[in-house]
Amino acid sequence: MSMVSNLITTSLLLLAASYSYADTEYQAQGKPAETLSQQAQWNLSIAPDGKALPKGKGFATQGKQIFALKCAACHGPEGIGASADPLIGEVGSLTSDYPEKTVNSYWPYATTLFDYIRRAMPINAPFSLTPDEVYALSAYILSQDAIIAADFELNEETLPQVTMPNREGFTPFYPEK
Ligand code: HEC
Repeated sequence: MSMVSNLITTSLLLLAASYSYADTEYQAQGKPAETLSQQAQWNLSIAPDGKALPKGKGFATQGKQIFALKCAACHGPEGIGASADPLIGEVGSLTSDYPEKTVNSYWPYATTLFDYIRRAMPINAPFSLTPDEVYALSAYILSQDAIIAADFELNEETLPQVTMPNREGFTPFYPEK
């Protein structure tokens, strides 16, 4: 056998060996998708009209305290970024030379903020927050850039009425005819 074919044979043998190793050692991680999708909480997507929003209310002052306890470790004390994304600031920067996509500068709908926090944050404890806490956190984040007033009550009625700064910044890829 030439050296090259020798090398190929050896590589193939190694490949086969590593596959069977993987087969015997493989441990399933997480849960099957169909089990998750049966859980009501995963199906609670909140559209821009806010229809599926749970009842509740919150204010920025409460949100500030929860943020310090449960979010600041990763998002920075004022939400302007630490190891995780900045959430606040950079409004109006998208058309500048240094565009920065934060929640407040980029996201078109405030309802997405509620939905995202509820289903995904804190990243190590998703679905752990009550609706009131999520309203309060959303109020805090939005009020930091004066998208809402500092004393604005965020609830299932008022949240969908909030106009995000980049609301008109998205154009549909497939416009409706
Ligand atoms: C342990 C670290 C950690 C904690 C604590 C945490 N986050 Fe996050 N957060 C992340 C990471 C990492 C991402 C980016 C996830 C991704 O892009 O998939 C993120 C993303 C986000 C986003 C989306 C940002 C964007 O621009 O896409 C929001 C909103 C958010 N977090 C809010 C919160 C709130 C509110 C809390 C507190 C209740 C919180 N996070 C706590 C790590 C954390």
